[in-house]
Amino acid sequence: MFNKENLNRLDVTALRSQRWYAPDTIRAFAHRQRTQQMGLNREEFMGKPVIGIINTWSEMSACHIHLRDRAEAVKRAVWAAGGYPVELPALSVGEVMVKPTTMLYRNFLAMEAEELLRQHPIDGAVLLGGCDKSTPALLMGALSMDIPMIFCPAGPMSTGKWRGQVTGAGTHTKKYWDLVRVGTIKEHDWVELEGAMTRSIGTCNTMGTASTMTSIADAIGFTLPGASSIPAADSRHTQMAAQCGKTIVDMVWYDHKPSKWLKRENFLNGIVAYMALGGSTNAAIHLIAMANRANIKITLDDMAEIARQVPVLANLFPSGDQLMDEFFFAGGLMALLKKVEPFLHTQSIGVTNQMVAHWIKHADCYDDNVIRNMDNPVIALEQGCALAVLRGNLCPNGAVMKSSAAKPELHRHCGPAVVFDSAQALSEQIDDPALDIHKDSVIVLRNAGPVGAPGMPEWGNLPIPKKLLKEGVTDMVRISDARMSGTHYGACVLHVAPEAAVGGPLALVKTGDMIELDIAAGTLNMLVSDEELATRRAALQPSHRVYQRSFAALYQQHVTQADEGCDFDFLQAGSDVPEPAIC
Ligand code: FES
Ligand code: MG
Repeated sequence: MFNKENLNRLDVTALRSQRWYAPDTIRAFAHRQRTQQMGLNREEFMGKPVIGIINTWSEMSACHIHLRDRAEAVKRAVWAAGGYPVELPALSVGEVMVKPTTMLYRNFLAMEAEELLRQHPIDGAVLLGGCDKSTPALLMGALSMDIPMIFCPAGPMSTGKWRGQVTGAGTHTKKYWDLVRVGTIKEHDWVELEGAMTRSIGTCNTMGTASTMTSIADAIGFTLPGASSIPAADSRHTQMAAQCGKTIVDMVWYDHKPSKWLKRENFLNGIVAYMALGGSTNAAIHLIAMANRANIKITLDDMAEIARQVPVLANLFPSGDQLMDEFFFAGGLMALLKKVEPFLHTQSIGVTNQMVAHWIKHADCYDDNVIRNMDNPVIALEQGCALAVLRGNLCPNGAVMKSSAAKPELHRHCGPAVVFDSAQALSEQIDDPALDIHKDSVIVLRNAGPVGAPGMPEWGNLPIPKKLLKEGVTDMVRISDARMSGTHYGACVLHVAPEAAVGGPLALVKTGDMIELDIAAGTLNMLVSDEELATRRAALQPSHRVYQRSFAALYQQHVTQADEGCDFDFLQAGSDVPEPAIC
Protein backbone atom coordinates (compact mmCIF):
# COMPACT_ATOMS: atom_id res chain seq x y z
CA MET A 1 0.00 0.00 0.00
CA PHE A 2 1.36 3.39 0.94
CA ASN A 3 4.91 3.31 2.20
CA LYS A 4 4.40 5.98 4.77
CA GLU A 5 8.09 6.58 5.40
CA ASN A 6 8.83 7.56 1.81
CA LEU A 7 5.68 9.52 1.06
CA ASN A 8 4.61 12.93 2.25
CA ARG A 9 1.36 12.97 4.16
CA LEU A 10 -0.69 16.06 3.42
CA ASP A 11 -1.15 18.63 6.10
CA VAL A 12 -4.81 19.01 7.02
CA THR A 13 -4.77 22.57 5.67
CA ALA A 14 -4.10 21.14 2.18
CA LEU A 15 -7.39 19.22 2.07
CA ARG A 16 -9.70 20.61 -0.60
CA SER A 17 -12.67 20.47 1.82
CA GLN A 18 -10.93 22.92 4.11
CA ARG A 19 -11.88 25.73 1.73
CA TRP A 20 -15.49 25.07 2.76
CA TYR A 21 -15.02 24.19 6.42
CA ALA A 22 -11.98 25.98 7.87
CA PRO A 23 -12.27 29.75 7.27
CA ASP A 24 -13.60 32.16 9.83
CA THR A 25 -16.29 33.51 7.49
CA ILE A 26 -20.06 33.58 7.39
CA ARG A 27 -20.02 31.10 4.45
CA ALA A 28 -17.84 28.58 6.28
CA PHE A 29 -20.05 29.05 9.36
CA ALA A 30 -23.03 28.00 7.21
CA HIS A 31 -21.17 24.93 5.92
CA ARG A 32 -20.34 23.79 9.48
CA GLN A 33 -23.83 24.71 10.69
CA ARG A 34 -25.59 22.73 7.95
CA THR A 35 -23.39 19.69 8.51
CA GLN A 36 -24.34 19.77 12.19
CA GLN A 37 -28.00 20.13 11.14
CA MET A 38 -27.70 16.49 10.02
CA GLY A 39 -26.85 15.50 13.58
CA LEU A 40 -23.07 15.35 13.33
CA ASN A 41 -20.83 16.72 16.05
CA ARG A 42 -18.11 19.17 15.01
CA GLU A 43 -15.29 16.71 15.79
CA GLU A 44 -16.87 14.05 13.54
CA PHE A 45 -16.13 16.03 10.39
CA MET A 46 -13.76 18.91 11.12
CA GLY A 47 -10.23 18.30 9.83
CA LYS A 48 -11.17 14.98 8.24
CA PRO A 49 -10.94 13.96 4.58
CA VAL A 50 -14.43 14.19 3.10
CA ILE A 51 -15.08 11.11 0.98
CA GLY A 52 -17.80 11.41 -1.66
CA ILE A 53 -19.45 8.08 -2.43
CA ILE A 54 -21.03 8.51 -5.84
CA ASN A 55 -23.80 5.93 -5.86
CA THR A 56 -25.65 4.85 -9.01
CA TRP A 57 -28.23 2.85 -7.01
CA SER A 58 -31.71 2.96 -8.52
CA GLU A 59 -34.88 0.88 -8.53
CA MET A 60 -34.72 1.12 -12.31
CA SER A 61 -31.34 -0.59 -12.32
CA ALA A 62 -31.52 -4.18 -11.11
CA CYS A 63 -27.77 -4.58 -11.51
CA HIS A 64 -27.16 -1.85 -8.91
CA ILE A 65 -29.89 -2.70 -6.42
CA HIS A 66 -27.36 -3.76 -3.75
CA LEU A 67 -25.28 -0.59 -3.99
CA ARG A 68 -27.06 1.09 -1.07
CA ASP A 69 -25.81 -1.71 1.16
CA ARG A 70 -22.34 -1.46 -0.34
CA ALA A 71 -22.31 2.30 0.30
CA GLU A 72 -22.93 1.51 3.98
CA ALA A 73 -19.92 -0.80 3.99
CA VAL A 74 -17.79 1.92 2.41
CA LYS A 75 -18.99 4.44 5.01
CA ARG A 76 -18.25 2.10 7.90
CA ALA A 77 -14.64 1.80 6.75
CA VAL A 78 -14.24 5.51 6.00
CA TRP A 79 -15.37 6.40 9.53
CA ALA A 80 -13.00 3.78 10.97
CA ALA A 81 -10.10 5.19 8.95
CA GLY A 82 -10.73 8.72 10.21
CA GLY A 83 -12.63 10.15 7.23
CA TYR A 84 -16.06 11.68 6.83
CA PRO A 85 -18.17 9.81 4.23
CA VAL A 86 -21.01 11.43 2.31
CA GLU A 87 -23.21 9.63 -0.20
CA LEU A 88 -24.04 11.43 -3.44
CA PRO A 89 -26.78 9.86 -5.58
CA ALA A 90 -26.20 9.94 -9.34
CA LEU A 91 -27.93 8.87 -12.53
CA SER A 92 -28.01 5.09 -12.74
CA VAL A 93 -27.92 4.38 -16.52
CA GLY A 94 -29.27 0.86 -15.93
CA GLU A 95 -28.74 -0.87 -19.25
CA VAL A 96 -32.08 -2.54 -19.74
CA MET A 97 -34.69 0.06 -18.77
CA VAL A 98 -33.10 3.25 -20.10
CA LYS A 99 -34.30 4.16 -23.60
CA PRO A 100 -33.43 4.75 -26.32
CA THR A 101 -29.99 3.70 -25.08
CA THR A 102 -27.77 4.23 -22.05
CA MET A 103 -25.04 5.41 -24.39
CA LEU A 104 -27.02 8.61 -24.91
CA TYR A 105 -26.62 9.21 -21.15
CA ARG A 106 -23.03 8.05 -20.57
CA ASN A 107 -21.80 11.60 -21.04
CA PHE A 108 -24.67 12.87 -18.85
CA LEU A 109 -23.45 10.71 -15.94
CA ALA A 110 -19.84 11.66 -16.68
CA MET A 111 -20.81 15.33 -16.41
CA GLU A 112 -22.81 14.66 -13.27
CA ALA A 113 -19.95 12.80 -11.58
CA GLU A 114 -17.48 15.57 -12.42
CA GLU A 115 -19.78 18.36 -11.28
CA LEU A 116 -20.87 16.54 -8.08
CA LEU A 117 -17.23 16.33 -7.10
CA ARG A 118 -16.44 19.90 -8.15
CA GLN A 119 -19.40 21.63 -6.51
CA HIS A 120 -19.05 19.92 -3.11
CA PRO A 121 -16.28 19.85 -0.47
CA ILE A 122 -14.97 16.44 -1.58
CA ASP A 123 -11.37 15.30 -1.04
CA GLY A 124 -11.63 11.79 -2.46
CA ALA A 125 -14.24 9.67 -4.22
CA VAL A 126 -15.48 6.09 -4.17
CA LEU A 127 -17.38 5.37 -7.37
CA LEU A 128 -20.12 2.73 -7.12
CA GLY A 129 -21.19 1.39 -10.50
CA GLY A 130 -20.76 -1.50 -12.90
CA CYS A 131 -23.69 -1.83 -15.28
CA ASP A 132 -22.24 -1.16 -18.76
CA LYS A 133 -21.91 2.64 -19.27
CA SER A 134 -21.78 3.49 -15.56
CA THR A 135 -18.14 2.39 -15.31
CA PRO A 136 -16.69 4.59 -18.08
CA ALA A 137 -19.03 7.45 -17.18
CA LEU A 138 -18.01 7.59 -13.50
CA LEU A 139 -14.34 7.22 -14.37
CA MET A 140 -14.48 9.88 -17.09
CA GLY A 141 -16.02 12.39 -14.68
CA ALA A 142 -13.65 11.60 -11.83
CA LEU A 143 -10.63 11.68 -14.14
CA SER A 144 -11.56 15.17 -15.26
CA MET A 145 -11.65 16.29 -11.61
CA ASP A 146 -8.32 14.59 -10.87
CA ILE A 147 -8.82 14.01 -7.16
CA PRO A 148 -7.99 10.69 -5.46
CA MET A 149 -10.65 8.17 -6.47
CA ILE A 150 -11.28 4.44 -6.43
CA PHE A 151 -13.82 2.44 -8.40
CA CYS A 152 -15.93 -0.12 -6.51
CA PRO A 153 -17.43 -2.48 -9.14
CA ALA A 154 -20.96 -3.78 -8.54
CA GLY A 155 -19.87 -7.38 -9.21
CA PRO A 156 -21.37 -9.98 -11.52
CA MET A 157 -24.58 -11.89 -10.73
CA SER A 158 -24.51 -15.58 -9.81
CA THR A 159 -24.61 -18.34 -12.42
CA GLY A 160 -28.12 -19.15 -13.56
CA LYS A 161 -29.39 -22.56 -14.68
CA TRP A 162 -32.53 -23.49 -16.56
CA ARG A 163 -33.41 -27.15 -17.01
CA GLY A 164 -29.83 -28.17 -16.34
CA GLN A 165 -28.30 -25.66 -18.76
CA VAL A 166 -26.35 -22.59 -17.65
CA THR A 167 -27.98 -19.35 -18.71
CA GLY A 168 -25.87 -16.26 -19.13
CA ALA A 169 -27.54 -12.86 -19.06
CA GLY A 170 -27.93 -11.39 -22.52
CA THR A 171 -26.20 -14.10 -24.54
CA HIS A 172 -28.87 -16.70 -23.83
CA THR A 173 -31.76 -14.27 -24.12
CA LYS A 174 -30.75 -13.70 -27.72
CA LYS A 175 -30.14 -17.39 -28.35
CA TYR A 176 -33.49 -18.45 -26.90
CA TRP A 177 -35.30 -15.61 -28.69
CA ASP A 178 -34.11 -16.97 -32.04
CA LEU A 179 -35.54 -20.37 -30.96
CA VAL A 180 -38.85 -18.68 -30.04
CA ARG A 181 -38.97 -17.01 -33.47
CA VAL A 182 -38.70 -20.34 -35.26
CA GLY A 183 -41.12 -22.06 -32.84
CA THR A 184 -38.69 -24.40 -31.06
CA ILE A 185 -39.35 -22.77 -27.67
CA LYS A 186 -43.00 -22.48 -26.69
CA GLU A 187 -44.67 -19.65 -24.80
CA HIS A 188 -44.86 -21.30 -21.34
CA ASP A 189 -41.12 -22.09 -21.48
CA TRP A 190 -40.37 -18.54 -22.50
CA VAL A 191 -42.39 -17.20 -19.51
CA GLU A 192 -40.57 -19.55 -17.16
CA LEU A 193 -37.22 -18.36 -18.48
CA GLU A 194 -38.18 -14.78 -17.67
CA GLY A 195 -38.07 -15.55 -13.97
CA ALA A 196 -35.07 -17.84 -14.06
CA MET A 197 -32.34 -16.21 -16.11
CA THR A 198 -31.17 -13.43 -13.80
CA ARG A 199 -31.27 -15.01 -10.38
CA SER A 200 -29.28 -12.69 -8.12
CA ILE A 201 -28.05 -9.17 -7.53
CA GLY A 202 -25.24 -7.97 -9.76
CA THR A 203 -24.29 -7.17 -13.31
CA CYS A 204 -24.53 -9.52 -16.31
CA ASN A 205 -22.52 -12.66 -15.68
CA THR A 206 -21.31 -13.09 -19.26
CA MET A 207 -18.31 -11.23 -20.67
CA GLY A 208 -20.62 -8.45 -21.81
CA THR A 209 -19.90 -4.76 -21.55
CA ALA A 210 -20.31 -4.67 -17.76
CA SER A 211 -17.66 -7.28 -16.95
CA THR A 212 -15.50 -6.06 -19.82
CA MET A 213 -15.44 -2.51 -18.46
CA THR A 214 -15.07 -3.42 -14.77
CA SER A 215 -12.25 -5.85 -15.66
CA ILE A 216 -10.52 -3.23 -17.81
CA ALA A 217 -10.88 -0.71 -14.97
CA ASP A 218 -9.30 -3.31 -12.68
CA ALA A 219 -6.39 -4.00 -15.07
CA ILE A 220 -5.76 -0.26 -15.51
CA GLY A 221 -5.56 0.11 -11.73
CA PHE A 222 -8.79 1.93 -10.83
CA THR A 223 -9.98 -0.82 -8.40
CA LEU A 224 -8.49 -2.91 -5.65
CA PRO A 225 -6.59 -5.63 -7.57
CA GLY A 226 -9.00 -8.40 -8.56
CA ALA A 227 -12.12 -6.59 -7.29
CA SER A 228 -13.95 -6.81 -10.61
CA SER A 229 -14.20 -10.61 -10.48
CA ILE A 230 -15.87 -10.89 -7.07
CA PRO A 231 -19.52 -11.98 -7.44
CA ALA A 232 -22.00 -9.40 -6.17
CA ALA A 233 -23.70 -11.85 -3.81
CA ASP A 234 -20.45 -13.07 -2.19
CA SER A 235 -19.62 -11.78 1.29
CA ARG A 236 -16.18 -10.91 -0.06
CA HIS A 237 -17.90 -8.30 -2.22
CA THR A 238 -19.03 -6.38 0.86
CA GLN A 239 -15.56 -6.83 2.33
CA MET A 240 -14.09 -5.36 -0.87
CA ALA A 241 -16.42 -2.34 -0.64
CA ALA A 242 -15.24 -1.69 2.92
CA GLN A 243 -11.63 -2.01 1.80
CA CYS A 244 -12.32 0.71 -0.81
CA GLY A 245 -13.41 2.98 2.07
CA LYS A 246 -10.21 2.35 4.00
CA THR A 247 -8.02 2.78 0.92
CA ILE A 248 -9.53 6.08 -0.24
CA VAL A 249 -8.75 7.76 3.08
CA ASP A 250 -5.08 6.78 2.65
CA MET A 251 -5.19 7.93 -0.97
CA VAL A 252 -6.39 11.38 0.11
CA TRP A 253 -3.72 11.81 2.79
CA TYR A 254 -1.01 10.83 0.29
CA ASP A 255 -2.64 12.83 -2.55
CA HIS A 256 -2.69 9.70 -4.73
CA LYS A 257 -4.65 11.26 -7.59
CA PRO A 258 -4.80 9.91 -11.18
CA SER A 259 -2.34 12.44 -12.62
CA LYS A 260 0.27 11.02 -10.21
CA TRP A 261 -0.06 7.35 -11.13
CA LEU A 262 -2.08 6.91 -14.32
CA LYS A 263 0.00 6.55 -17.51
CA ARG A 264 -0.50 5.34 -21.06
CA GLU A 265 0.96 1.99 -19.94
CA ASN A 266 -1.96 1.50 -17.54
CA PHE A 267 -4.37 1.79 -20.48
CA LEU A 268 -2.25 -0.61 -22.55
CA ASN A 269 -2.56 -3.10 -19.66
CA GLY A 270 -6.32 -2.55 -19.80
CA ILE A 271 -6.28 -3.38 -23.50
CA VAL A 272 -4.30 -6.60 -22.89
CA ALA A 273 -6.97 -7.68 -20.39
CA TYR A 274 -9.71 -6.68 -22.85
CA MET A 275 -8.31 -8.94 -25.57
CA ALA A 276 -7.55 -11.90 -23.27
CA LEU A 277 -11.12 -11.67 -21.99
CA GLY A 278 -12.65 -11.52 -25.47
CA GLY A 279 -14.42 -8.40 -24.22
CA SER A 280 -17.21 -6.28 -25.66
CA THR A 281 -16.65 -4.08 -28.72
CA ASN A 282 -18.14 -1.23 -26.67
CA ALA A 283 -14.85 -1.01 -24.79
CA ALA A 284 -13.17 0.32 -27.94
CA ILE A 285 -15.22 3.52 -27.56
CA HIS A 286 -14.99 3.84 -23.78
CA LEU A 287 -11.23 3.28 -23.60
CA ILE A 288 -10.55 6.13 -26.01
CA ALA A 289 -12.92 8.42 -24.09
CA MET A 290 -11.51 7.55 -20.65
CA ALA A 291 -7.90 7.95 -21.75
CA ASN A 292 -8.69 11.28 -23.33
CA ARG A 293 -10.07 12.59 -20.02
CA ALA A 294 -6.64 11.84 -18.54
CA ASN A 295 -4.94 13.57 -21.49
CA ILE A 296 -3.61 10.22 -22.74
CA LYS A 297 -3.94 9.20 -26.39
CA ILE A 298 -5.27 5.71 -27.09
CA THR A 299 -6.37 4.79 -30.61
CA LEU A 300 -8.19 1.97 -32.38
CA ASP A 301 -4.83 1.00 -33.86
CA ASP A 302 -3.34 0.53 -30.35
CA MET A 303 -6.14 -1.92 -29.67
CA ALA A 304 -5.84 -3.71 -33.01
CA GLU A 305 -2.11 -4.20 -32.50
CA ILE A 306 -2.56 -5.81 -29.08
CA ALA A 307 -5.51 -7.87 -30.39
CA ARG A 308 -3.20 -9.42 -32.98
CA GLN A 309 -0.92 -10.69 -30.20
CA VAL A 310 -3.18 -11.62 -27.29
CA PRO A 311 -5.64 -14.47 -27.90
CA VAL A 312 -8.90 -14.96 -26.02
CA LEU A 313 -7.97 -16.98 -22.91
CA ALA A 314 -11.08 -16.44 -20.75
CA ASN A 315 -13.57 -19.18 -21.51
CA LEU A 316 -16.60 -16.96 -20.96
CA PHE A 317 -19.81 -16.42 -22.91
CA PRO A 318 -20.22 -15.23 -25.62
CA SER A 319 -16.75 -16.40 -26.82
CA GLY A 320 -16.68 -19.48 -24.54
CA ASP A 321 -19.08 -21.45 -22.36
CA GLN A 322 -18.57 -20.35 -18.73
CA LEU A 323 -19.79 -17.50 -16.53
CA MET A 324 -18.25 -15.01 -14.12
CA ASP A 325 -18.78 -17.20 -11.01
CA GLU A 326 -16.57 -19.85 -12.60
CA PHE A 327 -14.05 -17.19 -13.64
CA PHE A 328 -13.83 -15.96 -10.04
CA PHE A 329 -13.40 -19.46 -8.64
CA ALA A 330 -10.70 -20.16 -11.25
CA GLY A 331 -8.66 -17.26 -9.89
CA GLY A 332 -10.34 -14.26 -11.52
CA LEU A 333 -8.71 -11.40 -13.33
CA MET A 334 -5.40 -11.62 -11.48
CA ALA A 335 -4.96 -15.25 -12.62
CA LEU A 336 -5.72 -14.15 -16.18
CA LEU A 337 -3.24 -11.25 -15.98
CA LYS A 338 -0.57 -13.64 -14.76
CA LYS A 339 -1.06 -15.71 -17.92
CA VAL A 340 -0.52 -12.66 -20.13
CA GLU A 341 2.28 -11.21 -18.00
CA PRO A 342 4.74 -10.92 -20.93
CA PHE A 343 2.39 -8.39 -22.55
CA LEU A 344 1.89 -6.28 -19.43
CA HIS A 345 3.70 -3.22 -18.15
CA THR A 346 4.31 -4.74 -14.75
CA GLN A 347 5.86 -1.60 -13.27
CA SER A 348 2.59 0.31 -13.61
CA ILE A 349 0.84 1.20 -10.37
CA GLY A 350 -2.81 1.64 -9.50
CA VAL A 351 -4.94 3.08 -6.71
CA THR A 352 -3.19 1.00 -4.04
CA ASN A 353 0.22 2.41 -5.02
CA GLN A 354 1.43 -1.12 -5.72
CA MET A 355 2.88 -2.37 -8.99
CA VAL A 356 1.12 -4.82 -11.32
CA ALA A 357 4.02 -7.21 -10.62
CA HIS A 358 2.95 -7.18 -6.97
CA TRP A 359 -0.76 -7.72 -7.75
CA ILE A 360 -0.09 -10.91 -9.68
CA LYS A 361 2.82 -12.26 -7.67
CA HIS A 362 0.70 -14.76 -5.79
CA ALA A 363 -2.08 -15.16 -8.36
CA ASP A 364 -2.80 -18.78 -9.23
CA CYS A 365 -5.17 -20.35 -11.71
CA TYR A 366 -7.33 -23.14 -10.30
CA ASP A 367 -9.04 -24.18 -13.52
CA ASP A 368 -7.12 -24.13 -16.80
CA ASN A 369 -10.31 -24.79 -18.75
CA VAL A 370 -11.89 -21.55 -17.55
CA ILE A 371 -8.72 -19.45 -17.76
CA ARG A 372 -6.73 -21.02 -20.54
CA ASN A 373 -2.99 -21.08 -21.09
CA MET A 374 -1.42 -19.26 -24.04
CA ASP A 375 -0.86 -22.56 -25.85
CA ASN A 376 -4.53 -23.57 -25.49
CA PRO A 377 -6.62 -20.44 -26.10
CA VAL A 378 -10.41 -20.39 -26.36
CA ILE A 379 -9.96 -18.89 -29.79
CA ALA A 380 -6.61 -19.08 -31.54
CA LEU A 381 -5.36 -15.88 -33.13
CA GLU A 382 -5.82 -17.36 -36.63
CA GLN A 383 -9.53 -17.88 -35.88
CA GLY A 384 -10.28 -14.34 -34.78
CA CYS A 385 -9.73 -11.86 -32.01
CA ALA A 386 -11.70 -9.65 -29.65
CA LEU A 387 -11.30 -6.59 -31.84
CA ALA A 388 -10.51 -6.34 -35.53
CA VAL A 389 -10.28 -2.81 -36.92
CA LEU A 390 -11.38 -2.26 -40.52
CA ARG A 391 -10.84 0.63 -42.89
CA GLY A 392 -11.85 1.28 -46.49
CA ASN A 393 -14.12 3.42 -48.63
CA LEU A 394 -17.07 2.47 -46.43
CA CYS A 395 -15.38 3.39 -43.14
CA PRO A 396 -12.40 5.72 -43.72
CA ASN A 397 -12.04 6.49 -39.99
CA GLY A 398 -12.53 2.90 -38.92
CA ALA A 399 -15.06 0.25 -38.00
CA VAL A 400 -14.70 -2.60 -35.55
CA MET A 401 -15.67 -6.24 -35.41
CA LYS A 402 -15.32 -8.97 -32.83
CA SER A 403 -13.99 -11.48 -35.31
CA SER A 404 -13.80 -14.19 -32.65
CA ALA A 405 -17.61 -14.06 -32.45
CA ALA A 406 -18.14 -14.45 -36.22
CA LYS A 407 -18.25 -17.63 -38.27
CA PRO A 408 -14.73 -18.10 -39.75
CA GLU A 409 -16.13 -18.58 -43.28
CA LEU A 410 -17.41 -14.99 -43.12
CA HIS A 411 -14.02 -13.49 -42.26
CA ARG A 412 -13.55 -12.95 -45.99
CA HIS A 413 -16.77 -12.25 -47.79
CA CYS A 414 -18.25 -10.42 -50.75
CA GLY A 415 -22.00 -9.99 -51.17
CA PRO A 416 -24.75 -7.60 -52.23
CA ALA A 417 -25.99 -4.99 -49.77
CA VAL A 418 -29.55 -4.91 -48.45
CA VAL A 419 -29.83 -1.42 -46.99
CA PHE A 420 -32.15 -0.07 -44.29
CA ASP A 421 -32.32 3.65 -43.48
CA SER A 422 -33.61 3.19 -39.92
CA ALA A 423 -33.94 0.55 -37.23
CA GLN A 424 -37.72 0.81 -37.57
CA ALA A 425 -37.63 0.15 -41.31
CA LEU A 426 -35.40 -2.84 -40.67
CA SER A 427 -37.67 -4.36 -38.03
CA GLU A 428 -40.73 -3.85 -40.23
CA GLN A 429 -39.20 -5.39 -43.36
CA ILE A 430 -36.59 -7.95 -42.30
CA ASP A 431 -39.07 -10.84 -41.89
CA ASP A 432 -41.08 -9.99 -45.03
CA PRO A 433 -41.08 -13.24 -47.06
CA ALA A 434 -40.87 -11.12 -50.25
CA LEU A 435 -37.62 -9.42 -49.17
CA ASP A 436 -34.89 -10.16 -51.74
CA ILE A 437 -32.20 -11.46 -49.41
CA HIS A 438 -30.10 -14.61 -49.21
CA LYS A 439 -27.37 -16.01 -47.01
CA ASP A 440 -24.59 -14.17 -48.86
CA SER A 441 -26.34 -10.79 -48.67
CA VAL A 442 -24.81 -8.09 -46.48
CA ILE A 443 -27.39 -6.42 -44.22
CA VAL A 444 -26.71 -2.69 -43.75
CA LEU A 445 -28.30 -0.38 -41.18
CA ARG A 446 -27.52 3.35 -41.15
CA ASN A 447 -28.58 6.44 -39.18
CA ALA A 448 -27.97 4.46 -35.99
CA GLY A 449 -24.74 6.22 -34.94
CA PRO A 450 -23.93 8.81 -32.25
CA VAL A 451 -25.67 11.70 -34.07
CA GLY A 452 -28.11 9.74 -36.23
CA ALA A 453 -29.99 7.71 -33.61
CA PRO A 454 -28.94 9.72 -31.49
CA GLY A 455 -26.81 7.90 -28.90
CA MET A 456 -25.57 4.99 -30.99
CA PRO A 457 -27.85 2.26 -29.62
CA GLU A 458 -26.98 -1.43 -29.47
CA TRP A 459 -28.85 -2.18 -32.68
CA GLY A 460 -25.81 -3.56 -34.53
CA ASN A 461 -26.61 -7.24 -33.97
CA LEU A 462 -29.02 -6.99 -36.93
CA PRO A 463 -31.54 -9.85 -36.99
CA ILE A 464 -31.18 -12.62 -39.53
CA PRO A 465 -34.39 -12.87 -41.59
CA LYS A 466 -36.77 -15.52 -40.28
CA LYS A 467 -36.89 -17.29 -43.62
CA LEU A 468 -33.09 -17.71 -43.57
CA LEU A 469 -33.09 -18.83 -39.91
CA LYS A 470 -35.52 -21.58 -40.94
CA GLU A 471 -33.06 -22.63 -43.66
CA GLY A 472 -30.43 -23.03 -40.94
CA VAL A 473 -28.50 -19.78 -41.56
CA THR A 474 -27.04 -18.71 -38.21
CA ASP A 475 -24.62 -15.93 -39.21
CA MET A 476 -24.42 -13.28 -41.93
CA VAL A 477 -22.25 -10.22 -42.52
CA ARG A 478 -24.02 -7.21 -41.04
CA ILE A 479 -22.80 -3.60 -41.08
CA SER A 480 -23.95 -0.52 -39.17
CA ASP A 481 -22.89 2.69 -37.49
CA ALA A 482 -24.51 1.34 -34.30
CA ARG A 483 -22.98 -0.61 -31.42
CA MET A 484 -23.70 -4.17 -30.31
CA SER A 485 -24.25 -5.60 -26.85
CA GLY A 486 -21.13 -7.29 -25.54
CA THR A 487 -23.21 -10.35 -24.78
CA HIS A 488 -24.09 -10.86 -28.46
CA TYR A 489 -22.22 -12.59 -31.26
CA GLY A 490 -22.13 -12.79 -35.04
CA ALA A 491 -20.32 -11.27 -38.05
CA CYS A 492 -21.37 -7.73 -37.19
CA VAL A 493 -19.27 -4.80 -38.39
CA LEU A 494 -19.93 -1.94 -35.98
CA HIS A 495 -19.07 1.70 -35.18
CA VAL A 496 -18.66 2.68 -38.86
CA ALA A 497 -17.01 6.10 -38.80
CA PRO A 498 -17.84 8.67 -39.86
CA GLU A 499 -21.48 7.68 -39.42
CA ALA A 500 -24.12 8.18 -42.12
CA ALA A 501 -25.80 11.11 -40.31
CA VAL A 502 -22.69 13.28 -40.58
CA GLY A 503 -22.19 12.39 -44.24
CA GLY A 504 -20.03 9.30 -43.87
CA PRO A 505 -19.88 7.04 -46.95
CA LEU A 506 -22.28 4.60 -45.30
CA ALA A 507 -24.94 7.13 -46.36
CA LEU A 508 -24.07 6.45 -50.02
CA VAL A 509 -24.54 2.66 -50.13
CA LYS A 510 -27.46 1.34 -52.18
CA THR A 511 -29.18 -2.02 -52.09
CA GLY A 512 -27.42 -4.27 -54.58
CA ASP A 513 -23.95 -2.68 -54.22
CA MET A 514 -21.32 -5.35 -53.71
CA ILE A 515 -19.57 -5.10 -50.34
CA GLU A 516 -16.22 -6.72 -49.67
CA LEU A 517 -15.01 -7.60 -46.18
CA ASP A 518 -11.51 -8.95 -45.53
CA ILE A 519 -10.68 -9.14 -41.84
CA ALA A 520 -7.12 -10.40 -42.33
CA ALA A 521 -6.40 -7.43 -44.57
CA GLY A 522 -8.35 -5.09 -42.26
CA THR A 523 -10.52 -3.77 -45.09
CA LEU A 524 -14.18 -3.02 -45.76
CA ASN A 525 -15.10 -1.57 -49.14
CA MET A 526 -18.11 -1.07 -51.36
CA LEU A 527 -17.24 -1.93 -54.93
CA VAL A 528 -18.60 1.29 -56.36
CA SER A 529 -16.56 3.72 -58.48
CA ASP A 530 -15.42 7.05 -57.07
CA GLU A 531 -17.34 8.84 -59.86
CA GLU A 532 -20.57 7.10 -58.93
CA LEU A 533 -20.03 7.85 -55.23
CA ALA A 534 -19.44 11.54 -56.07
CA THR A 535 -22.74 11.62 -57.99
CA ARG A 536 -24.58 10.03 -55.08
CA ARG A 537 -22.95 12.45 -52.61
CA ALA A 538 -24.14 15.46 -54.64
CA ALA A 539 -27.73 14.19 -54.34
CA LEU A 540 -27.50 13.23 -50.64
CA GLN A 541 -30.29 14.47 -48.35
CA PRO A 542 -30.05 14.27 -44.52
CA SER A 543 -32.38 11.52 -43.35
CA HIS A 544 -32.06 11.59 -39.57
CA ARG A 545 -34.07 13.63 -37.10
CA VAL A 546 -32.37 16.75 -35.72
CA TYR A 547 -33.42 17.53 -32.13
CA GLN A 548 -34.05 21.16 -31.19
CA ARG A 549 -34.35 20.73 -27.42
CA SER A 550 -33.58 18.27 -24.59
CA PHE A 551 -30.36 16.49 -23.77
CA ALA A 552 -30.53 14.86 -27.22
CA ALA A 553 -30.08 18.31 -28.82
CA LEU A 554 -26.94 18.98 -26.75
CA TYR A 555 -25.74 15.48 -27.57
CA GLN A 556 -26.18 15.82 -31.33
CA GLN A 557 -24.36 19.15 -31.35
CA HIS A 558 -21.33 18.05 -29.36
CA VAL A 559 -20.78 14.28 -29.55
CA THR A 560 -17.62 13.07 -31.29
CA GLN A 561 -17.50 10.03 -33.57
CA ALA A 562 -16.95 6.44 -32.43
CA ASP A 563 -13.24 6.40 -33.28
CA GLU A 564 -12.83 9.47 -31.05
CA GLY A 565 -14.72 8.05 -28.05
CA CYS A 566 -18.17 9.66 -28.43
CA ASP A 567 -17.37 12.15 -25.70
CA PHE A 568 -18.60 15.73 -25.89
CA ASP A 569 -16.07 17.97 -27.62
CA PHE A 570 -16.18 20.46 -24.72
CA LEU A 571 -15.49 17.78 -22.09
CA GLN A 572 -12.35 16.34 -23.60
CA ALA A 573 -9.03 17.07 -21.94
CA GLY A 574 -8.02 20.64 -22.48
CA SER A 575 -8.09 23.81 -20.48
CA ASP A 576 -8.49 23.57 -16.71
CA VAL A 577 -11.77 24.37 -15.01
CA PRO A 578 -11.30 26.62 -11.96
CA GLU A 579 -12.31 25.49 -8.49
CA PRO A 580 -15.66 27.03 -7.53
CA ALA A 581 -15.56 30.41 -5.86
CA ILE A 582 -16.66 30.35 -2.21
CA CYS A 583 -17.80 33.80 -1.26
FE1 FES B 1 -26.72 -4.27 -16.19
FE2 FES B 1 -26.10 -6.16 -18.10
S1 FES B 1 -27.96 -5.11 -17.77
S2 FES B 1 -24.88 -5.29 -16.56
MG1 MG C 1 -24.90 -4.78 -22.23
